[in-house]
Amino acid sequence: MCGIVGYVGHSNAQQVIISGLEKLEYRGYDSAGIAVIGKNGMESAKFKGRLSVLDNYLKDHPLEGNIGIGHTRWATHGVPSDENAHPHFNQDKTIAVIHNGIIENYLELKAMLLEKGYQFRSQTDTEVVAHLFDLYYDGDLLKTAFKVESEIRGTYAILAIHQDSPHEFVALRCEAPLVIGYGKGENFVASDIPAVLEYTRDVAFLENGEIAHVTADNVVVYNTKHEVVRKQPFTVEWTLDAATKGGYDHFMLKEIHEQPQGIRDTINTRMDAKGYIKLDDIKLTKEDIAKFDKIYVVACGTAFHAGCVGKYAIEKLARIPVMCDIASEFRYQDPFVDDKTLVIVVSQSGETADTLAALREAKRKGARILSITNVVGSSIARESDDVFYTWAGPEVAVASTKAYTTQLVAFYMIALNLALAKNTINEKHYFELIDQLKQTADILEEMLKDDSREKEVAGLIKDKAALFYLGRGVDMQTAKEMALKLKEISYIYAESFAAGELKHGPIALIENGTPVIAVSTQSAMVEKMVSNIQEVKARGAYVIGIGCEGDSLLASVCDKVIYIPRVDDLLTPLLSVVPGQLIAYHTTCMKGFDVDKPRNLAKSVTVE
Ligand code: F6R
Repeated sequence: MCGIVGYVGHSNAQQVIISGLEKLEYRGYDSAGIAVIGKNGMESAKFKGRLSVLDNYLKDHPLEGNIGIGHTRWATHGVPSDENAHPHFNQDKTIAVIHNGIIENYLELKAMLLEKGYQFRSQTDTEVVAHLFDLYYDGDLLKTAFKVESEIRGTYAILAIHQDSPHEFVALRCEAPLVIGYGKGENFVASDIPAVLEYTRDVAFLENGEIAHVTADNVVVYNTKHEVVRKQPFTVEWTLDAATKGGYDHFMLKEIHEQPQGIRDTINTRMDAKGYIKLDDIKLTKEDIAKFDKIYVVACGTAFHAGCVGKYAIEKLARIPVMCDIASEFRYQDPFVDDKTLVIVVSQSGETADTLAALREAKRKGARILSITNVVGSSIARESDDVFYTWAGPEVAVASTKAYTTQLVAFYMIALNLALAKNTINEKHYFELIDQLKQTADILEEMLKDDSREKEVAGLIKDKAALFYLGRGVDMQTAKEMALKLKEISYIYAESFAAGELKHGPIALIENGTPVIAVSTQSAMVEKMVSNIQEVKARGAYVIGIGCEGDSLLASVCDKVIYIPRVDDLLTPLLSVVPGQLIAYHTTCMKGFDVDKPRNLAKSVTVE
């Protein structure tokens, strides 16, 4: 997500900030901007596009000064544009603010500020923070920051500067990372260590709720009670290359670990004060929903697999028939699409050519298009009637992980909303499921603390020529996604089957020692799955089960079991896929292949 750099000291702030932002490019972004305070007061520049666009402009229009803040934006609220790029300013441009994260109560704050006469130049949630700083500023930037922090809710890393006080800036942190770089006669704050590594190796992370007051000679950190916190800086020993992955060996592993936060961000920004799901960018009315006689889900690859899980959720909760189609096939099949059809298009990048072509075909046939995408302002988002943005943050590794789990969350939330509109769910069940959905983020965080079992499995399968994944019901969809993960990065032939279908042909492939991963999380299907596992065991398969804690029956028939915590059957795909992601990851590492950039594949497939 967005990159942040703040600097105060004796050097040219523009140079320090731009070089810092370059080190944060790996985070993904769509626009960049900077504000510097110097003898000409506050000067700034911000543009949609690559950092080089900003850099080229600054070559001809340099900003002079020794204090400033810079930002690379990954759009959430508002399309990528010059206006929406950060910094954002108060009315008379004396205050500049940059922000990473989401201000969840920005609509409330915006209404309050509009009433007070503040005018907004952008569609961002961040701009409310600039105006809040203006509203509370009384000559003391730190005190203003305390006041602003008490008003905002959400996830944020924020830096703010004021033209009248060109020797200081403040940094606020809640959930979005910020690191302080301690220099000599200069100090830095950034989203990640690489941005400051050229200047200092002495750093300390800000914790949630902390505010740093930064001058050239000092950094003082305050906790939520406004007491001074003594920070113990540590010395960075890593190389710049390793640090860009946030200390992880690969982007894929980093992104697997970012899933809990992605789930939280995707849910929390869409809850209203009464605990109902509020889908801002979806304008479907109760009448629209009543009109739909079917839903099509159209997507490619991993996004398609998310759609197949989505089908279960929508059909079970909202009782609307759902058909899933691969985008590259959809438009050649003369699909049953008309103005009574809702077409849900799923795409992480929002640019996949097959998916975009399918969207256009569905639109031509009169369907209402709802897209689920991770990239604000992408082609698919722009051409859809309604959009659900997954707040997964930029996904760099070719193998999709956090996009998938946030797409699942999107489907659960959409299904719950459709169900409520159609009266196919009672409020008790509705709130119970929302509660459990929220809890999955913490559960997953806990699960990710130990991947030793997945490593063990990777060691067992790494030299095998082929591997099979089995599942029933929604577990079959998880099995499909796990098989795709393994084959695309480890190049091991992996196939998934509906466990009950095996005996109708595929079981001929099983021989002594063939590894089989059996996903069994659905309480109503455990016994049937056990029978299918016994069928492959009888032919010599080595079976690794993935099931819910407490399922001793599964353990009794498998050679090895990886347990996930028990949640509602409908929600298990959010958790059960993760061991599959980790098995694929560790197997690939053991084989020595390039995890993040597998052969023959591209992150965004823009050809049909
Ligand atoms: C697999 C993977 C691909 C994508 C597919 C669709 O790990 O990443 O299968 O899911 O190419 O891409 P998007 O979601 O960008 O449309």
